[in-house]
Amino acid sequence: MGIFDVGKKSDIIKNEDAFSYEFVPKVLPYRENQIQEIANAIKPLLYERKGSNLFIHGAPGIGKTASVKWVLRELEETTDEVVPIYVNCWNLKTKYFIYTDIANQLGISFTAGKSAEHVLHQIKYKLKNKSAVFVFDEIDKIENSNFLYQILNVTQKSCVHLISNNYNYILRIDPRIKSRLQLRSLEFKPYSLEEIEGILKERVKLGLRAGAINPLLIKLIANVTHKKGDVRVGLNIIHEAAKLAEYEGENRIKKEHVDKVIKEVSEKKPEEDSLNKDEHLILSAVKKKNGAISGEIYKEYVSKGGKLSYKSFKRYVNNLERLGFLKLEKTGGGFKGKSTRIYLKS
Ligand SMILES: Nc1ncnc2c1ncn2[C@@H]1O[C@H](COP(=O)(O)OP(=O)(O)OP(=O)(O)O)[C@@H](O)[C@H]1O
Ligand SMILES: [Mg+2]
Repeated sequence: MGIFDVGKKSDIIKNEDAFSYEFVPKVLPYRENQIQEIANAIKPLLYERKGSNLFIHGAPGIGKTASVKWVLRELEETTDEVVPIYVNCWNLKTKYFIYTDIANQLGISFTAGKSAEHVLHQIKYKLKNKSAVFVFDEIDKIENSNFLYQILNVTQKSCVHLISNNYNYILRIDPRIKSRLQLRSLEFKPYSLEEIEGILKERVKLGLRAGAINPLLIKLIANVTHKKGDVRVGLNIIHEAAKLAEYEGENRIKKEHVDKVIKEVSEKKPEEDSLNKDEHLILSAVKKKNGAISGEIYKEYVSKGGKLSYKSFKRYVNNLERLGFLKLEKTGGGFKGKSTRIYLKS
């Protein structure tokens, strides 16, 4: 038998897409109120009035991105006059990259080699006489939020929605921009156990063949997910257990598959699932050189294939400290001046 031989055709997973984190289902239960609030903030733009700017916040994996994307999709189906723009700031370090992302969405080509201001000018021109909703997701990953000032002036009628799982981000915004934005706060509260179970059941219907998993197993997975707080954990357990069962040639997910996947998940730290590749690399570099100064950890990170500049690396380290993965300790002025020791937080 060859290594790629497929024993039996898989018949547990019906739609793999339903388990991707980007998937936005047609119905988003339990977020009706937040969805309505987001829509209300945008609605005035439909009547050529100004919309409201929002700061959307709450813990990881509780439907902030999904709700906003849901509203933008609905908006797109309702009108051509209000242009929805969604930018995930995770890997966009400077305003040049943000503007280029927006320009691409608007179908503006030839931005390479142009200045940020030039690209912004093209965006302004493209949006002339239109209204726009700008969503900046994971806004806390951006070093400098001053670009928001320019965004506010792109069109007369626009609104800006910022999303973050870190409430303290708001404290870091320049007071001038804050006062200009007049942000209204929209909090997403964690889901209850019943809500998580409801969400997982719905997703199972979309992703798995009917009868492929026993409702008691979904309850068990909902319990684990509720403890972690992040819906992605549950989606991931179901997906992995389904793949494992298929791999073993079963046509239903059994308790042993779920137990095995849950065991792996519970060995991870709470938010580790939502970290990106560089953050994982940084954590593994710190694991290797726990307590070393940041320059040494950076070298270890680079030797593992990390590509961030030292400046960005430090920004990521600060973020990992905020998320509770790392502990930082400033050392007294040594031979080379002050430096920081980095420890894993147990
Ligand atoms: N009410 C819901 N109904 C269906 N699926 C949901 C619901 N809430 C969250 N999800 C799903 O859970 C996953 C995580 O949700 P989402 O990406 O919106 O989290 P988030 O709050 O933006 O988290 P983060 O702060 O980490 O970005 C997504 O796959 C999303 O589709
Ligand atoms: Mg999100």
